[in-house]
Amino acid sequence: MKIGIAADHGGFELKEKLKVQLEKQYLSISDFGADAYDANDDYPDFAIPLAKAVGMGLVDRGIVLCGSGVGACFTANKVKGVRAALLTETYSAHQGVEHDDMNMICIGGRVVGEELAWEIVQAFLKAQYSGEARHERRLDKVKQLEKEQ
Ligand code: RB5
Repeated sequence: MKIGIAADHGGFELKEKLKVQLEKQYLSISDFGADAYDANDDYPDFAIPLAKAVGMGLVDRGIVLCGSGVGACFTANKVKGVRAALLTETYSAHQGVEHDDMNMICIGGRVVGEELAWEIVQAFLKAQYSGEARHERRLDKVKQLEKEQ
C-alpha cells in the first residue's frame, strides 16, 4: 500500500512522529511536506499536492495534518476523487473506509495526542472497503455530484 502524509506547521510535529511509526510498518511512505517547521507556512501548500496524489491514485491512502485538521480537510475534499474526513476517534477511522471508501484522513495536531493519532492511523490503514451494494449506491450518488461540479 502506498501512503502519503503531509502537514503544515500546526501538524508538523505530529507528522514527524507518525512518520517514524509508519516507516516501521509500511514500505512506501511519501512525505508531501512540510520538510521543516515554519510557523508561517500554509496548509493548502501541503494538503493540495497530497490530495491530488490520492485523487489520481498515485498513493492509496493519505494522512494530512494541520492545527485543527479543519482547513486541511475541506481543502482535500475539493480535489476530485478524494473522500477525506476529520477524525478524533478510531470507529470512524475504519468504518469510514468500510462503508464510504474513505481514502484520506485529517487530524488536528493541536487536538489529538500522539498515541490516539497512531491508533486512528492504524485503524484507517488496516480497514478495507466492503463494496456492498448499498455503499456502492451511495458512493455513486457522491460521484455523480462530483461530475456535476
Ligand atoms: C495554523 O496556525 C492553523 O490555522 C492551521 O494549521 C489549521 O488549524 C487550519 O485549519
